[in-house]
Amino acid sequence: MCGIVGYIGEADAKEILLKGLEKLEYRGYDSAGIAIRNEEGVTVFKEKGRIADLREAVNEDITAKIGIGHTRWATHGVPNRLNAHPHQSASGRFTLVHNGVIENYHLLQKTYLKGIPMQSDTDTEVIVQLIELFVKEGFSTADAFRKTLTLLHGSYALALLDVEAADTIFVAKNKSPLLVGVGEGFNVVASDAMAMLQVTDQYIELHDKEVVIVHKASVEITKLDGSIVERGPYTAELDMSDIEKGTYPHYMLKEMDEQPTVIRKIIQAYEGDNGELTIDAEILEALRAADRLYIIAAGTSSHAGLIGKQYFEKMAGIPVEVHISSEFGYNMPLLSEKPLFIFITQSGETADSRQVLVKIKELGYPTLTITNVPGSTLSREADHTLLLHAGPEIAVASTKAYVAQIAVLALAAYVTARANGKDLEFDLKQELAIVANGIQTIIDSKDVLEDIAEDYLKIARNAFFIGRNIDFYVSLEGALKLKEISYIQAEGFAGGELKHGTIALIEEGTPVFALVTQASVALNIRGNVKEVAARGAHPCIIAMAGIDEDGDRLVIPHVHELLTPLVSVVPLQLISYYAALHRRCDVDKPRNLAKSVTVE
Ligand code: F6R
Repeated sequence: MCGIVGYIGEADAKEILLKGLEKLEYRGYDSAGIAIRNEEGVTVFKEKGRIADLREAVNEDITAKIGIGHTRWATHGVPNRLNAHPHQSASGRFTLVHNGVIENYHLLQKTYLKGIPMQSDTDTEVIVQLIELFVKEGFSTADAFRKTLTLLHGSYALALLDVEAADTIFVAKNKSPLLVGVGEGFNVVASDAMAMLQVTDQYIELHDKEVVIVHKASVEITKLDGSIVERGPYTAELDMSDIEKGTYPHYMLKEMDEQPTVIRKIIQAYEGDNGELTIDAEILEALRAADRLYIIAAGTSSHAGLIGKQYFEKMAGIPVEVHISSEFGYNMPLLSEKPLFIFITQSGETADSRQVLVKIKELGYPTLTITNVPGSTLSREADHTLLLHAGPEIAVASTKAYVAQIAVLALAAYVTARANGKDLEFDLKQELAIVANGIQTIIDSKDVLEDIAEDYLKIARNAFFIGRNIDFYVSLEGALKLKEISYIQAEGFAGGELKHGTIALIEEGTPVFALVTQASVALNIRGNVKEVAARGAHPCIIAMAGIDEDGDRLVIPHVHELLTPLVSVVPLQLISYYAALHRRCDVDKPRNLAKSVTVE
């Protein structure tokens, strides 16, 4: 959802900025730009499209030691060169990049900027014009920046250049993520540490409504009132190999392949001294004290939440509600007396989920974030965090983080159940190890999944995913994966519900993927497959070993019946991947999407 970078030091800024933007491209890839400053002044390069397009447009011969950059996911104004960042003030003195949304920009424009012609349709331009206006009124740049910030309603991560302050980047944030990276003789600014890992692993976390004055040898953090804040850097525990594709053609393929390792890492991370699975004592207490869990999440993470509901209800006997975050905050149901709110979010930055967290904190209820990103906004702001340990997920379509979410939810439910004295007749650690091997078996059969994708989806207009019980929730995720990367209209359905209307869409050859992993409903879902087959559908049954039958298209390894989603989703991910390849789609960067959705 837009990524920003900045550099001030002695090296060639443009190369560092471009490399940084390449690493941030997962945050948005509609258009991109950089502004660099040297003795001649500020030069802006921007382009519609990808960072590769921007690279072509950048004049190789201009060098500079300070600059800012941006990759955009359009919110206000269509994605074109004009609306691409950086944006400049009317005189050209100030140059700004912005990630976020300014809700009152129109009002600010009408109130303060009448008569100043706008060069773009963006909310961002209003910010940079306001700064110039206040400087003209006599404020210093830092004070004009602060005054402008006090007027903004919404979210922002900002980096500003001033032609007359050659050695400074002015930085501020509210709600949108932003870090300052610290180096020897240089400093950097980035939406995500990944962007600047090439030059430093030392980062300073910024809090909302802080303003930072970045020079090449110093970083001064202040509050909006100008008072100084002292905060040292932390070491970003990321490895370049975690964020490189290596020999893989796509991040998505790499990340799907990492899934067995992710499960094993989770087992390790949550293994106590006695070898048993465990979670932080305070989190366990919070889970045990709750009379109801409210899982809040969006997209794929909400699909993981539906499976988490099964775990907490079936293992620990705690009732659970799962809510889509964009709805919950604005249409809150009646709450129980002692709720615990669990936010599931790969990125830890999703604005829809964050707005709920803010409201829940105001109500004074306890909160837990389950996230892949330590130090992310939702992690910092919740009372507790459980980490996914999946390593950076860069492909826009979530795969390994979804599997990690389910595994961590299973683990938390299992530990809670045992603490509550429930007699669970299985050892989760052992079962998860079996799951890791099961996923590996599927990953090793990619050729079969590639064939299935070709048979069923190469020319399909639409597709259905059906399942019953826990398989229904996996069907939702299978359909979402297919939609987002191959653009095939797909729906996940409870097998028994199809005949109540949607079966009307089944035509000759319509692909229907049916999951059969739950023995108790295997006959029922097979009955539903017969219903659609009788109406011309092209069914693809994916069944678990032990309840498979002749004619099933794929048999997946047997695992504990509660843990089947961890395994059954993998063929669906791979089928979507190959379908997208067959249709020549951009797998890692599907159209209209961004990895981290930091606007509501
Ligand atoms: C789909 C996908 C999205 C995210 C959703 C929430 O593959 O990745 O549906 O799951 O945008 O994002 P997080 O989990 O970062 O809150």
